[in-house]
Amino acid sequence: MITIIGAGKVGGDAALFSALKRLDDQILLLDIAEGLPQGEAMDLNHMLSEQGIDVEVKGSNNYEDMKGSDIVVVVAGSGRKPGMTRMDLLKINASVVTKVVDNIKKYADNALLIPVTNPLDPMAQIAFKTSGFERNRVFGMGGMLDLSRFKQFIHEATGKSRKEIDAIVIGEHGENMLPLTRFATVSGNPLPSIVSKEKLDEIFQDTKSVAAEVIKLKGATVHAPGNAISSIIENVVKDKKQVMPVSTNLAGEYGYSDVSIGVPAVIGKNGVEKINELELNDEEKEWFDKGVTSVKNALGEISS
Ligand code: LAC
Repeated sequence: MITIIGAGKVGGDAALFSALKRLDDQILLLDIAEGLPQGEAMDLNHMLSEQGIDVEVKGSNNYEDMKGSDIVVVVAGSGRKPGMTRMDLLKINASVVTKVVDNIKKYADNALLIPVTNPLDPMAQIAFKTSGFERNRVFGMGGMLDLSRFKQFIHEATGKSRKEIDAIVIGEHGENMLPLTRFATVSGNPLPSIVSKEKLDEIFQDTKSVAAEVIKLKGATVHAPGNAISSIIENVVKDKKQVMPVSTNLAGEYGYSDVSIGVPAVIGKNGVEKINELELNDEEKEWFDKGVTSVKNALGEISS
C-alpha cells in the first residue's frame, strides 16, 4: 500500500498520478483535516471507476490506518505563500514532520519514506533521524521537481522533444540548487555545444526561480510536484533502478556526512541503492557546498 500523508493539492495529485500509473492496488490519503482525505478519495475513486482502473483510494484521519504501508510520502505541512522562500517554512514544518514521522515509526516501520514537505532537505534529515530507519529507506523528493523545470527550459531553448533530454539537478531544493547544465544532453549532444553560455546561465537561473513565479500566478505548484512524487514511487515499485536526484543522508559522499541533500541515486525496490558521485568543477562544487551549508544552518537553527 502507498500512503500519502497530507491530502491537500500536492498529496491529492500524487495520489492521482500514482493511481493512473497503477503503482499499487491501494492508496491511502491521510490528513488531520476532517473530511478532506475522505472527500479526495471519493473524487479519485469516481474518476478511477470511469477509467476502469481497479486501484482503491481510501481517505482517513487515523494514522493507524497506514499499517502495512510499503511506501509513505510526507507532504503534510504548510506550503509557500507568494513571496516566501522554502526556508521560511522551517520552524512550522519541522514540528509537523517530526510528529508525522513519529507515527510512521509506530504504524509503518517497514516502509520506505519519501519526505516532500519544505524546506525539503532539512525535513528529509529530520525524517531520517526521527525515524531511525536505515538511510536507504529515506529519500526526499525535491531535485526531481527541479529537474522537471530544468528539462522544460532545455526543451524551450532547443525546440527538441522532451524525450530527447537527459539532465539532472542536485544540491539543495532551494536557493542554492544546482541544475547541472554541463552534464545535460539533447539527443546525446552536450547542452553546452548546442546553446550559448548566456542561454545556459539563463536556464540555470530560470530553473531556480520559476517555482516562485508559478506560486505568484496560481497560488501553489501542484502537478509538477505531484507527478515527481509518482515518478519516484514508480521507480521503487517497478524496481527500475533509474538514477534520480533525491535528498538523502550522506555518509561521506561528496565529502559530507550527517546531512541530507539532493544527490544522484539509483532508486529501486530498496529505495536508495547507490549514490553516484559526479566529478563537479569548482563552480558546481561551490553551489553544492552553499546548499549543504544552508541545510546545516537550518538544522542548527531547529536544534538550538
Ligand atoms: C516547488 C515547491 C513544492 O518547488 O518546493 O514547487
